[in-house]
Amino acid sequence: QRLVVLISGSGSNLQALIDAEAHDELGGEIAAVISNRGDAYGLVRAREAGIPAVVLPHHEYDSREAFDAALVKVIDRHAPDLIVLAGFMRILTPAFAQRYHGRMLNIHPSLLPEYRGLNTHARALADNVKEHGASVHFVTDELDGGPVVVQAAVSVAPEDDEAALAERVLTREHVIYPMTVRWFMQGRLKLTSDGPRLDNHPL
Ligand code: GRF
Repeated sequence: QRLVVLISGSGSNLQALIDAEAHDELGGEIAAVISNRGDAYGLVRAREAGIPAVVLPHHEYDSREAFDAALVKVIDRHAPDLIVLAGFMRILTPAFAQRYHGRMLNIHPSLLPEYRGLNTHARALADNVKEHGASVHFVTDELDGGPVVVQAAVSVAPEDDEAALAERVLTREHVIYPMTVRWFMQGRLKLTSDGPRLDNHPL
């Protein structure tokens, strides 16, 4: 089983996947890492782990469609069973989302359906919520709107600032993302027409 990981930044979730693979806990091999930004630190993590790292600068393409078409070419060259979005900060075209329907996961730093989009931690703090967290979901063409597979919740402390809350959530992300990817790689997790199922049980 092979996966391709798409990133735009620090790549701490990518690192969690790399570490899981090193411990034989991923159920598959990270075949390539693709970034739309050349300065993404995740590229360094990939290279240090000996994983082919590709930069596809989105600004070199005239349209979202042209960029996504180029992305498809690079992804399909590696024939992945699963595409993993790990801090990939691009809105996907419907054609791209449909092409990988049921075999593309994303992690989002909120308890979806709360706080889709950007600045989730700041918005959660501004609302004085008691609980916040992260969600792993299958990707559809609705931004942060695809069917949720797993969530991790954390308590919000009164003294939390954005950085403290982000850190607490990120630590949980690094647990639930490799776990979910492993389930998919093992064939235990599937997206059916009734939604995500884990070992034949609806989630
Ligand atoms: C994470 O908070 C993830 O939930 C969101 O983007 C961030 C990526 O962080 N999609 P990193 O690049 O994995 O460190």
